[in-house]
Amino acid sequence: MAKVYTPHDRSVPPRGQEFDTPGFLPVTPALISVLDEETGIPNIMPSVGWGWLNRLPFYLGVAVSVQEITGDYFKRGTHELLRRARDFALNVPTDRLREAVSACGRLSRAKDAAVDKFKETGLTPLPGKRIKSPHIAECPINYECKVREVVSLGSHDVFLGEVVGCFTDGVVRPGRSSAKGHSRIELAREDGGTTVLEFQGMVHLVSE
Ligand SMILES: Cc1cc2nc3c(=O)[nH]c(=O)nc-3n(C[C@H](O)[C@H](O)[C@H](O)COP(=O)(O)O)c2cc1C
Repeated sequence: MAKVYTPHDRSVPPRGQEFDTPGFLPVTPALISVLDEETGIPNIMPSVGWGWLNRLPFYLGVAVSVQEITGDYFKRGTHELLRRARDFALNVPTDRLREAVSACGRLSRAKDAAVDKFKETGLTPLPGKRIKSPHIAECPINYECKVREVVSLGSHDVFLGEVVGCFTDGVVRPGRSSAKGHSRIELAREDGGTTVLEFQGMVHLVSE
């Protein structure tokens, strides 16, 4: 089948319409938890715009919307909190937390300054070790990150967080299958929740 080519420029679609080019690559959403130093009430924001960026020092990046461009893109409450706290936890959820993840994406501190997403979802904040922001007990991996730099790209600011610690619970089963060309990490918690992070790569060994 012939490929369809969609040119992409910097124009914003009219209200109510989507961008023509697909916006999101399918990745497991992670949850950013960050302290609000003014109220003491921490916040949670689901993010698909996150990724591994550097090993030494270990950097993760999170992309947070900073502009009102369509109904979906507005300045997140999390943006201001990250700017002030200068740290955050990046929490990888399990399949059991789907409801909580979407509730955290529906609710917004930008729209309701008093909303307490931990209370609304029943998720449990645990105190940080090397950062002020709490992490989420129910998630099997919690990276503690210090914001070292903020890169403004336009609609989103990318907060570059250096990982200064990581909590894990449950069983982490790293696996690598060069034959199938993918690597896989499986996380299983005592509560039965699991997360499978799978990377479908192009792994070729010369001996194969
Ligand atoms: C699965 C999922 C992934 C999301 N990923 C992002 C993202 O990468 N960046 C972003 O700015 N917003 C993202 N959002 C939208 C925000 O999470 C949402 O607007 C939220 O209400 C913002 O909360 P806050 O205003 O309390 O920060 C995502 C939402 C969902 C449900």
